[in-house]
Amino acid sequence: MNIMTPTPPSKGRVDVDNFALSYDTLEGPVEAVSNASIHVNPGEFVSIVGPSGCGKSTLLNAVAGFLKPTRGGVTVDGEPIDGPGADRGMVFQQYSLFPWKTVKGNVEFGLKMKHLDKSSRDRAARTLLGLAGLTAFENKYPDSLSGGMKQRVGIVRALATGPKVLLLDEPFGALDAQTRVIMQQILTNMWQRLKISVLFVTHDIDEAIFLSDRVYCMTARPGSIKAEITIPLERPRHQSMMMSSEFLGLRRGLMSLIREESIKAMGGELNDLALDGLSIDLHGQSLADVL
Ligand SMILES: Nc1ncnc2c1ncn2[C@@H]1O[C@H](COP(=O)(O)OP(=O)(O)O)[C@@H](O)[C@H]1O
Ligand SMILES: [Mg+2]
Repeated sequence: MNIMTPTPPSKGRVDVDNFALSYDTLEGPVEAVSNASIHVNPGEFVSIVGPSGCGKSTLLNAVAGFLKPTRGGVTVDGEPIDGPGADRGMVFQQYSLFPWKTVKGNVEFGLKMKHLDKSSRDRAARTLLGLAGLTAFENKYPDSLSGGMKQRVGIVRALATGPKVLLLDEPFGALDAQTRVIMQQILTNMWQRLKISVLFVTHDIDEAIFLSDRVYCMTARPGSIKAEITIPLERPRHQSMMMSSEFLGLRRGLMSLIREESIKAMGGELNDLALDGLSIDLHGQSLADVL
């Protein structure tokens, strides 16, 4: 055996089979997802993209165990999901930190749930905070942190229980472009070091391509899987790759898939003719001249 070959991760397989979920509302059932089958191999980074309201969060929340499917099933390593569990960590777009706990306190909270003793908790929290570059901030309170830092704490806290699968729902959506890029890099580093599986929801196509091994594209609501795209870009990935013809080709393909679905999601009232009507031709004048 070649000792240089790292052993592939053996845990963290997610299978979502023929999944459907309807919400009960006063006006009757709302079908959010009609039929979706996805899988994540152990150690794989998989993204789900799709137009707003297509059921991405619904699907992710079912994998987290917060919602029960109306039809179909979700398993992790063959075990049916029956509620939230320490084997899955979840990161939301809105920072869900405890404001009354320090950074380290927030991270240790997950470890307490695992009934670790104080010194093991301390060591584990410090290691994870170090991986996310947060060692200097361990005694700070969330209020004094920037958005990017809060979200790093959110990721570290989700990782503290030692999950096999990390679930992230548009985690960088509220961050500025520069911070986003740094966060993507940090997430990739942590994923590679910890060898866990990641299921990542985003509406940002570039982000999905840059981060993922595979991308699922969903249809407009009620959501189903429209396409599955393998991202053959080599790792480690660098920002400069986003200008490569390979990246741009993948981007073009995904853009046209999503565009079709976004138009459907808007009730189909936006066609190319309507979009033409929105174009503003300045005929060489500046906007100030026209207004
Ligand atoms: N609690 C709920 N009750 C009723 N309808 C809901 C509820 N949550 C989401 N929906 C509807 O289900 C659809 C899918 O929502 P969601 O999964 O949040 O979409 P996405 O994350 O892709 O934007 C949307 O049309 C949304 O309005
Ligand atoms: Mg959502």
